Amino acid sequence: MRYDYIIVGAGIAGLYASLNIPQNKKVLILSKDPIWECNTFYAQGGVATAVDSNDIKLHIQDTLKAGAGLCDPKAVEILSQNSILVIEDLLVRGFEFDKDEQGNLLFTKEAAHSRPRILHAGGDATGRELHKFLLQQSKAKILEGVSVVDLLIEGDYCYGVRVENGKEQFNLYANKVFLASGGIGSLYEYHTNAKKISADLQGVAAFRGLKLKDMEFTQFHPTVFVFNKRARKLLLTEALRGEGATIVDEKGERFLFNYDPQGELAPRDIVSRAIYKHQKQGHKVYLDFSSFDENFFKKRFPNIYRVFRNIGFKVPKEKVPISPAFHFIMGGIKTDTWGKVEGFKNLYAIGEVACTGVHGANRLASNSLLEGLVFSKRAVEDSLIQEEIVPIKKFPVINYTLLKEGDQELKEKLRTTMWQKVGIIRKESELKEALGFIEERILSKDVGHLLKLRALSAKEIVKSALNRKESVGAHYIEGEE
Ligand code: SIN
Repeated sequence: MRYDYIIVGAGIAGLYASLNIPQNKKVLILSKDPIWECNTFYAQGGVATAVDSNDIKLHIQDTLKAGAGLCDPKAVEILSQNSILVIEDLLVRGFEFDKDEQGNLLFTKEAAHSRPRILHAGGDATGRELHKFLLQQSKAKILEGVSVVDLLIEGDYCYGVRVENGKEQFNLYANKVFLASGGIGSLYEYHTNAKKISADLQGVAAFRGLKLKDMEFTQFHPTVFVFNKRARKLLLTEALRGEGATIVDEKGERFLFNYDPQGELAPRDIVSRAIYKHQKQGHKVYLDFSSFDENFFKKRFPNIYRVFRNIGFKVPKEKVPISPAFHFIMGGIKTDTWGKVEGFKNLYAIGEVACTGVHGANRLASNSLLEGLVFSKRAVEDSLIQEEIVPIKKFPVINYTLLKEGDQELKEKLRTTMWQKVGIIRKESELKEALGFIEERILSKDVGHLLKLRALSAKEIVKSALNRKESVGAHYIEGEE
């Protein structure tokens, strides 16, 4: 079977790409899990956008500042300059962002934005609403329950993908391959990501010698309810703090001002570190919404309200315990500003799996859904300009041994190692221990292919963290005691 486009991943980047591809093309979207089980579905806060042309400069400035000097300024300009366009496109297609009673779009504020510029939908269900909408609009064929285990690469072409569906392994071929598979959440013990977001494609990239960039920059969300049993923890959107929720300790003290003059609205790496340090000193940390009127809370954050009420918290009056958890990786497969993977003619990476340089060392809140929209559209545009036909080539089917005995235990150990030694605050000696574990206990052993891919991604993160000697953005390195 040969397609014009294979898109790996059914989050915002993959689905929006499929909407922009002309309808006469044969497009296949691969989804590892049931289609809704992706990071886009769980995104709460919203989509950042320049509010109008006057705001572009300030949005660029805020993004560059959050990125701590390591963004690619050209990529950031592209992101902001195209933001109004993609939002208009969604509105024209019929998507409904939340509006006030007069029908004006409602913009909220999140950390490190110098003004309210985050659009939201369904109150705190922006990702879910967008995902549902894009799915309804997409005409692409979708295959669920299919994981990519390798890329069919030779020279500067990618001919397709090797996949497995739980029963068999086979090859799928295409003229253009778009990687839109998301981040690395389940490499970490505590995370906010969909459960099968496990760094497979970053691992395949490392396995095949593709360039990964900025992998040390892993972002931890400060306000997560981690006290449930699943690996995926419940995010409590930044927008709560944007609307006035505070962070307090067991004495009710707003301790964040001891760490940064912006308090709760400091960039998220600062807030995460402050909470982490405060907890290490033996304090309990809570998100406090008691200043919210109950009706406002119920309307603006309906899902968060419902979840907490269901588990017995009397929000908004009762505060809830929080902790930081892994949320997003700024680094990924290195692309140009058209989403094209370095060294390839027909391979693109878009969304979280890619590194366009737009986020630098730290992503500004709610720039990720925007990135998925802007860069997937550009990748499609580029792929249409370069209408070259990829030669037909057959690759053997390789039946990788996907799982081996003992893999599960090593996978869990890898997750705790990443959390404890490659987490919010890092030390060189601990990074070296993590690298030793990955190399000696996993990569030099006879493990299954899936664990190998995870470990290769983890190794890229640790190696990059070891190479980055100074603290910057989300990479914070502390001296040895
Ligand atoms: C949130 O709603 O706090 C998450 C938004 C983001 O990750 O940008």
